Amino acid sequence: MSFPKDFLWGGSISASQAEGAFNEGGRSPVQIDFGDAGSSAGPRKIYYENADGSRGEMYQFEHLPQGAKYRYYDDIHYTNHVGSDFYHTYKDDIKLFAELGLKHFNTTVSWARIYPHGTEGGLNTEGVEFYRNVFSELRKYGIEPIITLYKYDEPVYFEETYGGWENRKMIDEFVAFATVCFTEYKDLVRRWLTFNEINVLLQGADRPGAEGKAPGLFREIHNQMVAAARSVKAAHAVDPAIQVGCMIAGCSVYPMTPDPADVIAAYRFFQDEFCYCADTMMRGAYPDFADRFRGRYGVTMEISEEDKKDLAEGTSDFIGFSYYFSNCITTHKDEVKGREVRGVTDVKNPYIGASDWGWQIDPLGFKFLLHLINDRYQKPILDIENGLGAYDRIDEDGRIRDSYRIDYHRKHIAAMKEAVEEGVRLMGYTVWGFLDLVSFGTGQMDKRYGMIYVDMNDQGEGTLERRKKDSFSWYQKVIASNGEDLD
Ligand code: BG6
Repeated sequence: MSFPKDFLWGGSISASQAEGAFNEGGRSPVQIDFGDAGSSAGPRKIYYENADGSRGEMYQFEHLPQGAKYRYYDDIHYTNHVGSDFYHTYKDDIKLFAELGLKHFNTTVSWARIYPHGTEGGLNTEGVEFYRNVFSELRKYGIEPIITLYKYDEPVYFEETYGGWENRKMIDEFVAFATVCFTEYKDLVRRWLTFNEINVLLQGADRPGAEGKAPGLFREIHNQMVAAARSVKAAHAVDPAIQVGCMIAGCSVYPMTPDPADVIAAYRFFQDEFCYCADTMMRGAYPDFADRFRGRYGVTMEISEEDKKDLAEGTSDFIGFSYYFSNCITTHKDEVKGREVRGVTDVKNPYIGASDWGWQIDPLGFKFLLHLINDRYQKPILDIENGLGAYDRIDEDGRIRDSYRIDYHRKHIAAMKEAVEEGVRLMGYTVWGFLDLVSFGTGQMDKRYGMIYVDMNDQGEGTLERRKKDSFSWYQKVIASNGEDLD
């Protein structure tokens, strides 16, 4: 057998993308609530009202302009308001997860349900109870909840009150929230992840029109990493056996040519994208290349002794990561077309295919990344997201023949199997968007990742009925055979 017998085969969703019930149970609004549905051609937008009453729009992660406030408009359909309705259907959904044979399930605790208006507004016991019920229901079926604390969904209250993560008050607020979760759920949840894809925020520094934003983004990330480190310490104070991991958006990066300049550019891309955060959280200090990376944006940072101590003492117990695609980098910008990023060009790799959204499908890149992570950090690894966003069709006989999704997972699991056989200490594999949900990047319901279909579209039409796709029984077989039967 290639996989250890306690290998964690899982499925993953998130609160803001799946729960819906955006204004129930004492929950306060989060930024994503104000987003529409984009398309395969472009990301979603977040809408707000400017101080002069006009309508404004921005990308996720951006901040409100001075004097603006979030508001809903009648002509926009907000897909996250209903999501997959998991808030109301979790019992039936978990029954299906158990039928499939999941060993673990990952979702997030919505901060906006626990402390809707920060610590000052007090704990929302209804929210605390909701998650206790969800975790208990999972345990009832022997499914381990592995829970993420933060997925870009802090209450907008924090942006309104503190201006967001640049303000160090957010560190205390987050640690208070995390500590309540560790304490309340210590008998139910033994493994946590702090910030989902913490490194993604820095990508905002390369967006068109982002000039001048880099210093703030580097400070936000720094505060989040300090908050994560303090939370690891807080968890261990509650119970030393609780394990807390970080969560980094994974990428494998190839040079487009053997030109040494391309090879170095590709390696540097990986350092900046992945290792800047992963090194800090796993090894307890910023990597030696940190000044070089920040310097690209003209950013310098003084780190206080107190923060250095927290980072050193609060290293993550394991490394969680997501993986969807790889990148191909070149310095030969005049010879190719691609996305300009940090002075290099990210091009389409001709050796691999892509999804309908242009995400390049690369199972060997997954294996490559597993080895890089294993060699570099030497701690347990958990793949917490991997999946294919696709348009699904219900055939006349009611079946959803998502052979493309089966093929995607089969190839990634096969590549991962090889990595495990070659010594990579992987704890588990997690299918992202296991239950259809709202896409984070585009806000679409129609970009589906699930093995369980949810009847809801981008326009808000649908019964929310669940339906097993062909991939459901395929993954059931994979888990039952502990990854031996991938046919
Ligand atoms: C990851 C996020 O980046 O990618 C998820 O953690 C997200 O929240 C997933 O849904 C897939 O991205 P998208 O944009 O297709 O939803």
